[in-house]
Amino acid sequence: MTPGEDFLFKVKESHLDTGLRGIPVGTCRTSSVDPFEGVHYVGIPVRDTVERAPAEVVYLLLHKRWPSDDELHAFLDHLDRAANPPATVGRVLEALGGNVHPMKALSIGLEVLIEDEEGLESLDEVMAIIARMPWLMAAIHRLRLNKSLPKPVSLKEGIVSAFITALDPSPEVDRKAMASILKTFYILHLDHGGGNLSTFTGKAVASSRADITAALSSAMDALSGPLHGRANQSCLEFVQRVGSDDPEQVEKFVRTEIEAGRPIYGFGHAVLKAEDPRATLQLEVGEMVCPNDPLFKTLKTLREVASKVLAENPRISNPNPNVDLVSGTLLQSVGFTDAQTYTTFFGWSRVSGIGAQILDERNARDGKGVPIYRPKYIHRPTK
Ligand code: MLT
Repeated sequence: MTPGEDFLFKVKESHLDTGLRGIPVGTCRTSSVDPFEGVHYVGIPVRDTVERAPAEVVYLLLHKRWPSDDELHAFLDHLDRAANPPATVGRVLEALGGNVHPMKALSIGLEVLIEDEEGLESLDEVMAIIARMPWLMAAIHRLRLNKSLPKPVSLKEGIVSAFITALDPSPEVDRKAMASILKTFYILHLDHGGGNLSTFTGKAVASSRADITAALSSAMDALSGPLHGRANQSCLEFVQRVGSDDPEQVEKFVRTEIEAGRPIYGFGHAVLKAEDPRATLQLEVGEMVCPNDPLFKTLKTLREVASKVLAENPRISNPNPNVDLVSGTLLQSVGFTDAQTYTTFFGWSRVSGIGAQILDERNARDGKGVPIYRPKYIHRPTK
């Protein structure tokens, strides 16, 4: 983008009622998505961020540069001081009970995550939300298993470790494998440009200068839809239905699904035109952590076979795996067997990216901020 660059975009009749797809509406400083190279955080390919600690990548999104060691320490201290939400949150979650869809619990929990009396400025509000997410996530997951609310958490050990400690999984769970899968999952889902639906929704709500908790709660509602974040829940169910890692069997399954007009979950993407690097990176983690897991083996065959079969259709511009194909399989390998909870992991991570983008929009235009969203709808007279 160069100063004064003209983004004249001729909106034609055919663009209307298509969900604003591809129409430029703003700028994004936290991340960009290249159709072939995938997501970059502040210009850095996502592959070069996965070795870092989750808190470092969150810092990058907020401050647009890596922290020094001292800055990282101070950042974690700041998060740690804000890490435990008011008691209301626990009471509200307990009242909802464990049977409500976990994404509803996440959205409702976010609404009450900060009390008005805390009187936080926007940056501190985003920091407090990021800090309280591990406890909130652990509470949702524990209540779902009929367990009590988690104990207070410390974030000094890091964002993902705080969640695992608060979750306190059963002793047979390999906590090291769980940490490795969750850490990669968390970093890979932090942000994906400005136009994905949950981010757009969060920024639109925040543009009215509503509380950031309200904006992020709405963002999670957007994420909960099957065409967006809930796809990772559907993907695991899909991989489970394949039932074999034999290429011939898998091909037969894929062709039967296509003939029956059913979706092939986990392939293609609104913006990407090649294999999503987030899928590639998660496959690499799976090779290290659960290479012999039966579903992981199925997944690897599916990656090859379904891509080949989908590529036979000239109308499919991207027959390659996306991030959702792999994440559920990895989560189940470390004991998260309830697929309905999967989108909460996506949401846990994405609140940081959306929060960072909201802050950028509030500071845009020399501090005036982006005005309240108000696109134009063309009146279509009733015939
Ligand atoms: C993603 O992470 O892939 C998105 O949120 C979906 C999108 O980019 O539209």
